[in-house]
Amino acid sequence: MSLLPGDSSSNSMEHLAGNATFDHLPVMLSEVLDVFEGIKEGLIVDATVGGAGHARALLQQAPTRPLLGIDRDPSAVEVARDRLAEFGRKAQVLHGRFDEIGQILDVDGRELHGALFDLGVSSHQLDTPGRGFSHRYSAPLDMRMNPHDALEAATIVNTYSEDELVRLLRANSDERFAHRIANSIISSRPIETTKELADIVRSAVPAAVRRKGRHPAMRTFQAIRIAVNSELALIEPALTQTIERLRPGGRLVVLSYHSGEDRIVKHVLREAADGVCLCPSSLPCICGSEPNVRLLRRKVVRPTTAEIDRNPRAASARFRAAERLSVGEA
Ligand SMILES: C[S@@+](CC[C@H](N)C(=O)[O-])C[C@H]1O[C@@H](n2cnc3c(N)ncnc32)[C@H](O)[C@@H]1O
Repeated sequence: MSLLPGDSSSNSMEHLAGNATFDHLPVMLSEVLDVFEGIKEGLIVDATVGGAGHARALLQQAPTRPLLGIDRDPSAVEVARDRLAEFGRKAQVLHGRFDEIGQILDVDGRELHGALFDLGVSSHQLDTPGRGFSHRYSAPLDMRMNPHDALEAATIVNTYSEDELVRLLRANSDERFAHRIANSIISSRPIETTKELADIVRSAVPAAVRRKGRHPAMRTFQAIRIAVNSELALIEPALTQTIERLRPGGRLVVLSYHSGEDRIVKHVLREAADGVCLCPSSLPCICGSEPNVRLLRRKVVRPTTAEIDRNPRAASARFRAAERLSVGEA
């Protein structure tokens, strides 16, 4: 985590290599704004500030409500600071991971009134050729959201065993052809670029799959990116800390983009909404567990077709929202 605007980790403009502009359209924006509409004062955290699309709209929504943005990608932090500069001290952006949210809030002991998690990768990351997130450009196999992290995609692609690759492809992207793809990767090593990897995956899948729909390597790229950035493992601790820190009436919104992410979000919110009893099922409850939140939408909400037409990258979005309860309110 870096709390200082001048921290060296936020100075890596080289990470913008490829000159992709930071054009990420905020997903399900009106649904997000609806949830935070009633919160007029108090801190909102945008835990995945990215290109600050949601953050700007949240700052415009309530004239005195402050916002703290967090991102693990130093180039996103730099862009977000720039885009939110006009809001002065009302907007602050820190370099850090969202599972550090507890520590970050402890620094100045601020009460949390709302939090937004817009999970996954930004259009800017996908569209910056040199970062290796996309099968559309030839680049070194990197895929790190934070270039200071140790694990790169090249290590996974060139050193993981076949079993590890199969597990990763299944768990992170429900890949149907995990065995064939893992086998082709192993027999094509060493693999140096995203283009080579994309071609290997394309040849590994059945011809009928190659001919239709999206590029057959999309799922493989997604699975490797999720593993490089330990994306799934960070969601539960981050949401649990956030729920603990929210004041009564405080609200949480999570946007996820594939079933693996949404399963975790649903599980954490359901447990918080049900109250997890730790007593043996054969005995009456004496642990006093109580629900911590109420779900604001009983079911997952998906983007409208009009939004998907405007922004095809919103198509896989899944929206969930909850409100913190006060003790004894349930
Ligand atoms: C979908 S984009 C957010 C876009 C943003 N809502 C906007 O409107 O511009 C996701 C962002 O979350 C960041 N991110 C992903 N995992 C993170 C984590 N564990 N901690 C902090 N930031 C993370 C990524 O670097 C990326 O910039």
